[in-house]
Parts: sequence; C-alpha cells; structure tokens
Amino acid sequence: HNPIPATILLFGSTGDLSKRKLIPSIFHLFQEGSLSEQFVFIPIGRKDISNDEYKEIVKASIQAHDKITSYDKIDEFLSHVYYQQVDNDNLDDFIRLNKTVREHENSYQTEGNRLFYFALPPSTFSTVSDRLRDSKITETNGFKRLIIEKPFGKDLESATALSEAISTTFDESEIYRIDHYLGKEMVQNIEVIRFSNSMFEPLWNNHYISNVQITSSESLGVLDRGNYYDQSGVVRDMFQNHMLQMVSLLAMEPPSTLSSEDIRLEKVKVLKSIRRYKPEEIKSNFIRGQYDEGTVHGEPVIAYRDEKNVADDSNTPTFIAARLYIDNFRWAGVPFYVRTGKSMKDKRTQIVVEFKEVPRNLYHMDDTHHELAKNLLVINIQPDESISLHLNVKNDSRLNDTKTVNLSYTVETAEEVANVDAYENLIYDCLNGDSTNFTHLDELMLAWHIVDPVINTWETDIAPFPNYRSGSLGPVKSQLLAQRDGYKWWDV
Ligand code: BG6
Repeated sequence: HNPIPATILLFGSTGDLSKRKLIPSIFHLFQEGSLSEQFVFIPIGRKDISNDEYKEIVKASIQAHDKITSYDKIDEFLSHVYYQQVDNDNLDDFIRLNKTVREHENSYQTEGNRLFYFALPPSTFSTVSDRLRDSKITETNGFKRLIIEKPFGKDLESATALSEAISTTFDESEIYRIDHYLGKEMVQNIEVIRFSNSMFEPLWNNHYISNVQITSSESLGVLDRGNYYDQSGVVRDMFQNHMLQMVSLLAMEPPSTLSSEDIRLEKVKVLKSIRRYKPEEIKSNFIRGQYDEGTVHGEPVIAYRDEKNVADDSNTPTFIAARLYIDNFRWAGVPFYVRTGKSMKDKRTQIVVEFKEVPRNLYHMDDTHHELAKNLLVINIQPDESISLHLNVKNDSRLNDTKTVNLSYTVETAEEVANVDAYENLIYDCLNGDSTNFTHLDELMLAWHIVDPVINTWETDIAPFPNYRSGSLGPVKSQLLAQRDGYKWWDV
C-alpha cells in the first residue's frame, strides 16, 4: 500500500455507522500504512463535545471491533484526530470548518486532498453539499471526493433531484456511492470466478443454465432502525442496491478491461435488459412479506409491527422474493430468483447457479424415482466464504447409480484478506480514485426504474401482513415462485 496524503472529513461521526464500521476501518488503514503522517481525520457532528471526548469515542469503537486485535499505533492515530462541531444549517460553521481544514492541511501536508464522507440522514445530503460549496471547502488544489451512503433518493424522481443538487458541488467522477456489498471479498470474486476460468464462460448462458438464485437472509429484525426502515422497507434497503448489483455481476458480459468504465458499461446493459413487468404481472413475479413473531436461533422475537418506531398497521415489507428475467440473447428464458428478508432463519448470503440436465439420463433408467442430481455452482458470500461445484459420480454400492459430490474451496481464516470489513476496502479504493466498486449514477437510475413500479404497486395496496413467522424462510408464496417453474430454492 502506498500511503495517500489526505484529509478525511466524516459527517455523522458520532452515529452508529461511524462507530461500528467507519472509525475502525479508517484506523486500520492508518495502522497498515495506507494513511501516513500526511493524514488528518476531521470527524464532524452536531454534538457539542471536546476533541478529547471524541477521542474516547474513537478508542471505544476500535476496542469494540471484533476484527481488530492489535492497538498498535493507536496513540499516533489519535494525534491526527480533530473533532469539529458543525450545525448543518449554519453556513458560518462551515466557514469555520474551512479554516480549520486549511490549517491542518498545511501542518500535515495533505496536498489538499479531501475526502468527504456523508454518514448522514439522506434528508441532509443536499443541504450539506450546498454548504460545502458555499463555504468554499470544496475549492482545493488536491482531489475532492465524496463518499455517500444510501439511500440515494426514495424513487427515481427524488434520486434525480438529489443528484442534480449534489452535482452543483461534486462532479459525477468525484461521487462514490457506497454499496457495501461491492466491497465484500466474495462478491468481488464473482467476476474473478467467471472471467479467469475458461470452463465457465462457455456454459454461462441459457443453453446450459436453468436458473440462478440469490438469497440474502438476515436473522436480525430491524433493531433500533424502525424509524428509517418503516419508511424504506426491504425494496429500498436491500433489493434496489445490493441484490441488483449481484444480479448485474452474475449476468454481465465480459468487460473488455477491468477499468471501472468498462465494467460499468456491462453492468448498465444488464440493468437495461431486466424485464419491466406490467402492473398486472408484478403480483406473480414479486412476493412481499413482513415478519410476525416467532423464534430465531431458539430465542423468541417480536413481530415487525411491534418493533420500536414502527406503525401498528405498517404495510412495509421486510421480505421480497422476485423472479427476474434478463431479456437478452445470453439469458432469455432463464429466471433469476432473488430473495432477501429480515428476521429469517439464518444470516446468510448465497448464490446458486443451477445447470440444465444432461440431454439424456443414462442412469437410474429402470427407476423413475431417481433423477440425476442437479449440477450446481454455489458461491457463499457470507458468513462462510466458499465456492463449490456439485457433480455426479459413480456410487460404489449399486451398479449404474450415482451420488453427488461437492468440489469445494473455502476461504480459510488464515487467507482472509486482512481488512476489518467491506468499508475498509471501499474507503481505500476511493482514496486511490478507483470507482469500480461503487454505484454509478447510470446504475442507480436504472435500479430505481426497475423497482419504482413494484414500490408503487405495493404502497397503494394493503398487504395481509404479517405473513411469515420470524425464524422461517419467508412467506410460503415465495417458495411457490420457484416451484411453479419446476424449480426449488436451494438451501445447500
Ligand atoms: C444494509 C441495510 O445496507 O445492509 C441493512 O441497510 C442490512 O438493513 C445490511 O442489515 C446487511 O448487510 P450485511 O453486510 O450484514 O449483509
């Protein structure tokens, strides 16, 4: 790692995301040398606390992180921290901030490079971005880059407006929209598996693949995020971003190079080709759910509607299962089944690529109850990080009988890339000006275009919620989504 001289300005620095993920990630970048002496960390917040008090927050959040085991260099890191109290509505505060930034930049020789991180409620994005411009903090000889958290808008219209507002301060090439799934090692591996092995590409199409499945289940409920979640729901929270990004990576054409530009072009083509359903088709291709009380990992949990800051009659979905079609030559006719939800049986993200049957089954010919097991390519994103291939081989015990074996590779703990989590990868990429693993405006707009009709349909139609028990695999109807087509959701 070459250290990058930079000032990191973290807005929302006393919030939950900052404490759980961002501070540990920035500290770890410093610890491993990606940030050096020429580095200033300016956490910004509404709270009127002293820098010393903030440093206690930094220490606590580093200590609370389970992947950080060494506190080496922590004092050195703390000497680069300068908390600033800023009221987002007050331009004078920003003007003051501008002065502070310039002073520290001089003493730490950060070459004017400024990374702004909005870990803020989306309602404040455009105000803060305007203040940055008006106070001239964004005028610099170095780079200025903005990392922005989701949700980026709540539909196509608001996303467009927000994007226009921010574009008066930051150019598209300076905006890094975080989708933390793109920072996950195994999500990044999808591309490598597909494009660095000659054996998959010839089969990667509707001649040989019968269907593709992506499941991202969560065992936790909404916890203390009821306020945000009840407005957002699963479509905006997980599906519009993380799930569609994984679909794009699985379905895209090989890019001509690995540049962010080339990869993005291919992902955009996939999003364009995802079938837009007519209103009357939405019901049969998108299944929604909301969790009831139940038992998760042996513990009783409450229904979504009983969570804090959630309406008693909330119509917000906490689960979605979708059947998507990508209407192009490669994928015509191949369903992509995608599901994600909260308060389910397990925390797990898994991709299953199911291959078609051999043209003629020569085995078990006398026994109609035995079909050949399906060939599967399974990519486990989390918590296990593994790839496996399910094949049929001879079963010793009976003539002409087969059994399934798994060829598998599991990322061992020792091999795990030494980062604290996906956020660290992404902050590192942004510091290096690499936007490959961020969501470009074109992708964002297309994703809203895909989900807007679903959201509209669901918001104007009251669902018979709750309709799945906590600790289950979601509503029964979601099972039928695949069964109807003669498939089943794999849980392998
Ligand atoms: C976030 C959502 O983007 O992703 C959360 O807002 C969700 O609701 C989280 O829990 C899941 O991320 P991960 O990395 O735990 O799978």
